[in-house]
Amino acid sequence: MPRARPRFTCQSCGYESPGWFGRCPGCGEWNTLSRPAEAEPAAALARPLEDVEDADEERLASGIAEFDRVLGGGIVPGGLVLLGGDPGVGKSTLLLQVASCLAERWPVLYASGEESPGQIKARARRLGSLAPGLHVAAAWDTEVIASLVASVAPRLLIVDSLQTMRHPDFPLAPGSPVQLREVTGVLLHLAKSGGLPVILVGHVTKEGLLAGPRLLEHTVDVVLLFEGERFSPFRLLRVLKNRFGSTQELGVFQMASQGLREVPNPSALLLAERATGVPGSVVTVALEGTRTLLCEVQALLCTPSFGSPRRTAHGVDSSRLALLLAVLERRCQVPCGQMDAYVKVAGGVRLEEPAADLGVALALASAFADRPVPADLVVFGEIGLGGELRAVPRPDERLSEAGRLGFGRAIVPAAGSPGLEGMDVRPVARLSEALEAVLGPRHRGRDQR
Ligand code: TYD
Ligand code: MG
Repeated sequence: MPRARPRFTCQSCGYESPGWFGRCPGCGEWNTLSRPAEAEPAAALARPLEDVEDADEERLASGIAEFDRVLGGGIVPGGLVLLGGDPGVGKSTLLLQVASCLAERWPVLYASGEESPGQIKARARRLGSLAPGLHVAAAWDTEVIASLVASVAPRLLIVDSLQTMRHPDFPLAPGSPVQLREVTGVLLHLAKSGGLPVILVGHVTKEGLLAGPRLLEHTVDVVLLFEGERFSPFRLLRVLKNRFGSTQELGVFQMASQGLREVPNPSALLLAERATGVPGSVVTVALEGTRTLLCEVQALLCTPSFGSPRRTAHGVDSSRLALLLAVLERRCQVPCGQMDAYVKVAGGVRLEEPAADLGVALALASAFADRPVPADLVVFGEIGLGGELRAVPRPDERLSEAGRLGFGRAIVPAAGSPGLEGMDVRPVARLSEALEAVLGPRHRGRDQR
């Protein structure tokens, strides 16, 4: 079999080329392209599939249910997990808690290039997590990490963070693309060769490293994103990629003075600060993986001061907002298309499902009419361009979660609509019907009244 010709790689930006250049076409640096040393062809062995040993599917559950569920039941031995998130969101706190839970039973190694062992101990004390098996080390170098792994023999390795680590063979600053790739390569080797699960922290936002160069997303097995708004105690753990499970799961935490607390019943907490009787506030039921989440959508409409109207959406896609404003204007005679529109989902939740359409549209219409919706009402349903209400997945689960939290009324799409005992469930075929039912005939613009 012909072997691929070795390529030249820029030591500064990672640019690869089949030929040599004095100046890297990628980053413009001089004399940075080099050819990797010719490797001996590795001895390979192909076996009939039935002779291959079963992969050990036993997962390492930390006992922090919100964390384990997001991973699909726990950490898979030999899995390389990248935990991304903005600086300060709580990545180190979360992992220190996970590490110390597992360290009650096994040795766990927490290698940090960010904090000294003393600082980590102070934090662990604050979190009440001084587990006997927890080993910490200040480390910036993959060789040091490899030797620590050999001496501690941990069941889990945590590396905090990718941006502070370097591979000693590359004379480049930590954080450069080549370093990120090489460091990840070493950790991948450690994970796969020893069946050692590795969690790697990356200070990244969705727009940044994870979604940008997509340099590492292909290499690692699992990509988690830890998110939270700066001034909200809520923290959401999402899965962007999972070779061992679903990418639909969501973990909910609350940052408290003693670290992250699990929020097993997020709906109640998300609704705790809701001001009832205020126009523009509507509760909808979202699905996040296996769980249902009740959340409040808030809308505000104002007459624009000048020029084209402003659209500001937090937690809802802004093109979806524009679409719903257009449907309200054209199909329901609510003339809000030229107004400034602000929509926000409380608690920093992102509503990505079309099922949230009805909640957003009703919140806008309620804001327009300046009339509140009943406090015990929930709504869900996808809205089409014709103003029709469309069926959504798992309506019965949504209704029972709403019923459990004491909601007595629901407006749902007529198609595939279930009922729920003890709840006044109203199936509706069109958005205009829903507005009529909730806000009465006087919800429209002056000229149509
Ligand atoms: P940290 O885990 O250091 O964030 P990251 O590793 O993602 O950069 O968390 C930092 C923030 O969390 C910091 O602003 C303080 C806050 N915090 C608490 O509110 N309570 C706690 O018990 C801890 C440990 C941190
Ligand atoms: Mg940190």
